[in-house]
Amino acid sequence: MKLHTLFTLLPTLLFQNLCFAHSWMAPEIEAQKSNPIPISTESVQQGQALFAELCGSCHGTNAAGMSKEETGLNKDTPNLPTRLKTHTDGDFHWE
Ligand code: HEC
Repeated sequence: MKLHTLFTLLPTLLFQNLCFAHSWMAPEIEAQKSNPIPISTESVQQGQALFAELCGSCHGTNAAGMSKEETGLNKDTPNLPTRLKTHTDGDFHWE
């Protein structure tokens, strides 16, 4: 999955699920589903704004990851464009 595809999915995500249960994989049937949000300039911009608001404090606004010293967490956050390769669109859409 590309980062801009994640951005288009953000409005549909159950944020608590994503923020507090990060080590998830959707069931196979859900993981195979495709992104229901058409990729457009508007949907990507909307997702970027949500990412900056909800995720950027831990992942950095460009999603490159941050150190635990920067976030105050007990581990560094991963570089998402690298890690996203292990997830499908359906994985992210699953609630
Ligand atoms: C409170 C800090 C925090 C916030 C806020 C946060 N994350 Fe994370 N995220 C983390 C940490 C820490 C990890 C690494 C977890 C691990 O390696 O076990 C992570 C990992 C991830 C991963 C990798 C999961 C995997 O299986 O590879 C994704 C994708 C992700 N976050 C997306 C998001 C999105 C999208 C948001 C906003 C909706 C968000 N995160 C908000 C701290 C946060």
